[in-house]
Amino acid sequence: PNHYQNPSESAARQIPVTSHTLSTRREHFEKDFPLYKQPVEIGCFSLDSERRFYNDNRQMRYYVEPDRNPNFDLRDGYRDRYRKRDDGVKEKLDHMLHWILANRLKLQPSAPSTRLLHADFVTWRGHLTKLLTTPYETREGWLLAVTRFRGTFYISEVETEAARREQENRTERHEEMMYWGYKFEQYTCTDDTHSLPDPSGVVNTNEAFCTVVQTRLADHKLLFSGEVDCRDKDPDAPPPPSCYVELKTSAEICTPKQRSNFHRFKLLKWWAQSFLPGVPRVVAGFRDEEGVVVSVETFHVSKISSLIRNEHNCWKPTVCMNFCCDFLTFVKHVAVEDDPDVVYLFSWDPRRDVTYSIHRNSHYSFLRHWYIKEMTS
Ligand code: A3P
Ligand code: MG
Ligand code: MG
Repeated sequence: PNHYQNPSESAARQIPVTSHTLSTRREHFEKDFPLYKQPVEIGCFSLDSERRFYNDNRQMRYYVEPDRNPNFDLRDGYRDRYRKRDDGVKEKLDHMLHWILANRLKLQPSAPSTRLLHADFVTWRGHLTKLLTTPYETREGWLLAVTRFRGTFYISEVETEAARREQENRTERHEEMMYWGYKFEQYTCTDDTHSLPDPSGVVNTNEAFCTVVQTRLADHKLLFSGEVDCRDKDPDAPPPPSCYVELKTSAEICTPKQRSNFHRFKLLKWWAQSFLPGVPRVVAGFRDEEGVVVSVETFHVSKISSLIRNEHNCWKPTVCMNFCCDFLTFVKHVAVEDDPDVVYLFSWDPRRDVTYSIHRNSHYSFLRHWYIKEMTS
């Protein structure tokens, strides 16, 4: 089953919010799969080599299927042809806010003067991925800032203290391995439909192409954006997001234990990330210890849940989606004050419930003045 449903298949659903915390225990979310409408792309944007925003698809890349026996050296260029994005710059929802302002007429077709969005939630796909995997996450907690403004809930992540420490204390090996994923993209993508990949160029991680999709999870209307690695280069491929391809790298699988860990941990993250925007395929490059990709395999997102069914004590898509849905319901109940200067900070640590605190005119505020002004006037 592909898990996307039509609205007619939805049943009435309710969660009782009786306390100021939300449980993340798996057994609470083993319910029927909630309605999740097939995501529709309503726009896109690009970020260039200097991280500048463009309201178009100029950074789109095209997937070129590798040979049967690839031999991609992912370490090549790390020292001399790598321009790394400054991850100390916290962009929050800024690119999405730019996109919304540039596309207001599309979003407010019937009443452009009301400045209301046809969405309950605006956020990044990556934040939703974290919510989907929460019931199974044992290592990393999260902080999500929520502001209610003109009836829409904006969700923006705040870096945890633990994540900041980890970022500061990365080993040289870990730094290099973060490059490998982008290098794999360079071996498998082109800028146009008629050329071959050029691994001699610079890897610049400022560059990105992002899709903006609209969908609905139960009674939550969602508008979110996510980075897309590339698309099928066949002009007759289905329209976005169905033509999109997610690229991944992973360590070669040599033992049953490694296969089981791959199914239980990695496929959960891969499934959650691609299922949300409706990206149907993940192409994985399996690499050895030296960072050489020795095989490539395609995973169809709709088949991942059956692939993992034989794993003992494995993750379930329904638990992920029900938790996310209940979290969004919880947010709607908690974040009652409609004010761009108020942040409801939701906090979660593994083996704990979700809690929240309220902050007025604090450093957590993340909606920009230019956005508030434009949406108010
Ligand atoms: P891999 O996915 O092959 O590991 P994405 O797969 O989401 O398109 O991200 C591209 C690459 O960015 C990843 O490639 C990885 O190298 C790097 N990356 C993404 N998220 C990361 C994170 N949380 N920590 C470290 N590296 C990350
Ligand atoms: Mg990517
Ligand atoms: Mg990728």
